[in-house]
Amino acid sequence: MDAAPYPYAQRRLLDLPLPFLTQRRLDGLLRPAPGDRILEIGPGTGLQSLPVARALGPAGRLDIVDIQQDMLDHVMRRATDLGLTNIVPTRADAQRLPFPTDTFDAAYLVTALGEIPSPGLTLLELERVLKPGGRLVVGEFFDRHQVRRAALARYATLAGLRVERVVGPPFAYFARLTGPSRT
Ligand SMILES: C[S@@+](CC[C@H](N)C(=O)[O-])C[C@H]1O[C@@H](n2cnc3c(N)ncnc32)[C@H](O)[C@@H]1O
Repeated sequence: MDAAPYPYAQRRLLDLPLPFLTQRRLDGLLRPAPGDRILEIGPGTGLQSLPVARALGPAGRLDIVDIQQDMLDHVMRRATDLGLTNIVPTRADAQRLPFPTDTFDAAYLVTALGEIPSPGLTLLELERVLKPGGRLVVGEFFDRHQVRRAALARYATLAGLRVERVVGPPFAYFARLTGPSRT
């Protein structure tokens, strides 16, 4: 499998909204609320980051994690232009998240999970950093990296999560996972 991250040189394509993977659908499952602390993995150029950060308000915080510094810098420039001050960038590999256990109210990743060499390890890490009862939303689109719904359900089970709801067709879906199951 080609495990290279999406090239920054092709970033313009990331600004085009993908059919079915709309912000409205993401928001409906993620439910970003003022004051929440939310984690986004693989923000790319910030297509989803900017509206989610706005929904969190000044008391909330959006942590964005990407393996490419260029992507993080790009999002931060856009945030500054829009006057958004609640986004915190961290360069890291999603398979080893530099956050304590039980940190986030919710997390999401859109067309990123299939690009990460081990989606299973990534879900385990997300389960760890989410607070009990935290929400995790995965968006996947039909391309060579796509994690299909059946595979996502298997990874989720291994990570102690459960696919609770799916919206959209199989080639462009959002899934909400519940967890963590820890007490
Ligand atoms: C196809 S882009 C998706 C961007 C954005 N979510 C969107 O929908 O437009 C995938 C993103 O995941 C990031 N990424 C790839 N592998 C990663 C890893 N192991 N850890 C963290 N981020 C990673 C890439 O650098 C890129 O920003």
